[in-house]
Amino acid sequence: MSRLVVVGVQWGDEGKGKMTDYLAQNADVVVRYQGGNNAGHTIKFDGQKFALQSIPSGIFNPHIKNVMANGMVINPKAALGELDGLAERGIKNYQLFISDRAAVIMPYHMMLDGAYENLKGGKLIGTTKKGIGPAYCDKYSRIGIRMGDLLEPEYFAERLKDALVQKNMELAMLGLETMDFDTLYNEYIAYGERLRPYICDTSVLLNQEVEKDSKILFEGAQGVMLCIEHGTYPFVTSSSPTAASVPLNTGIAPRFIDHALGICKAYTTRVGEGPFPTELHDDLAHYIRERGNEYGTVTKRPRRVGYLDAVALRHACRVSGINYLSLMLFDVLSGVETLKICNRYMLNGEEIDYVPGTLSLYEKCEPVYVEMPGWKEELDNVTDFEQLPQTAKDYVAKIEELTNTKVVVVSVGPDRTQTIMRENIF
Ligand code: GDP
Ligand code: IMO
Ligand code: MG
Repeated sequence: MSRLVVVGVQWGDEGKGKMTDYLAQNADVVVRYQGGNNAGHTIKFDGQKFALQSIPSGIFNPHIKNVMANGMVINPKAALGELDGLAERGIKNYQLFISDRAAVIMPYHMMLDGAYENLKGGKLIGTTKKGIGPAYCDKYSRIGIRMGDLLEPEYFAERLKDALVQKNMELAMLGLETMDFDTLYNEYIAYGERLRPYICDTSVLLNQEVEKDSKILFEGAQGVMLCIEHGTYPFVTSSSPTAASVPLNTGIAPRFIDHALGICKAYTTRVGEGPFPTELHDDLAHYIRERGNEYGTVTKRPRRVGYLDAVALRHACRVSGINYLSLMLFDVLSGVETLKICNRYMLNGEEIDYVPGTLSLYEKCEPVYVEMPGWKEELDNVTDFEQLPQTAKDYVAKIEELTNTKVVVVSVGPDRTQTIMRENIF
């Protein structure tokens, strides 16, 4: 299997960074294909911890070609900040390729992200305020700036002038300060100059790699339940993390995508607002949050915590064509007396086994659980699946049964070494 997509199958923060870094030890290319610095991907190895936001998780290995593909929204200032931060920690020897077609996140996108949220009053989405939604809006409104534009001074000036006509009108309407063309122009031309060595047509590069049968990992951000198409709309992000979005967002053909690995926590978390049928508000939520260090990588917000939701998982696996699951943060559940997995929703007095398409219905769904005994033993030093307590193995088997998908990885800690591979899939 040469080309594998790493997809979060819940509401983000499932451990995609850890698994991408782990699998990248065998990869030639790692590609981020959507989202931007709303993501926070944590990676731990050799006693070091990194939190990447827009830079692909293969950046630590000098042999890997890291691609930021056309489907991303890139904040050049933030990306340069990440690269500077990596350089300070000795990560200077890497290969990075940034698509000339990727959308640029401009300062007005961040201002508008905050302002639009404030307008929603009690119904705010709880975005990361990184300007993701407004940047994707401009891309589709055809007034967006693209990374390649930053390398063409005259063309960039024209694009920025046109964009500012609309953007300054919006800012003024919202009572915000308007933006000065010269200041923005000079700042962004300078970012373009610094990023010039990396900016290219990444579709050409990726197709060359496909031709060589290179091993390519596609690193999704967010999760399927936050997908603009298949997530809990409108409480979603503005891109699609599904495997289906990879061809469009990278410029390679669908036939070159071999398999998708779903990254799934052994329980559920969500950061930001929106429906969450299995959410817990009791001592158990606190227990899991503290053991799993469930605080946002980007915004530091405490993550909402709940039981595993197999209805949502089946939905996510279906719409993203998940072949295998990687079960993360498994160690966190030690000490939980009874584990529950939601296998149906109760909606208006009837049991259903699908995710309703409208928020008003989804908000009414109550979880119907199957229960299983937990285990007491700490698992962070377990290296072999057979060493797991029987009840832990049963929990894994139950997840496989309820999702009809094989669990090929069990992760028992944040470090690269704390990974139990049951089958070599890459
Ligand atoms: P991502 O956005 O999907 O890459 O996930 P995040 O990095 O935002 O959040 C996952 C968190 O769980 C990070 O703090 C990881 O270091 C941590 N983590 C990943 N796998 C495991 C695991 O198996 N056990 C524990 N205890 N922590 C893990
Ligand atoms: P990773 O890749 C968890 C959530 C935000 C908010 C909603 C919309 O680390 O898993 P946005 O800023 O994208 O417009 O916010 O999506 N969100 C994430 N939650 N992990 C992420 O990324 C997220 N990226 C966005 O909290 O609810
Ligand atoms: Mg994260």
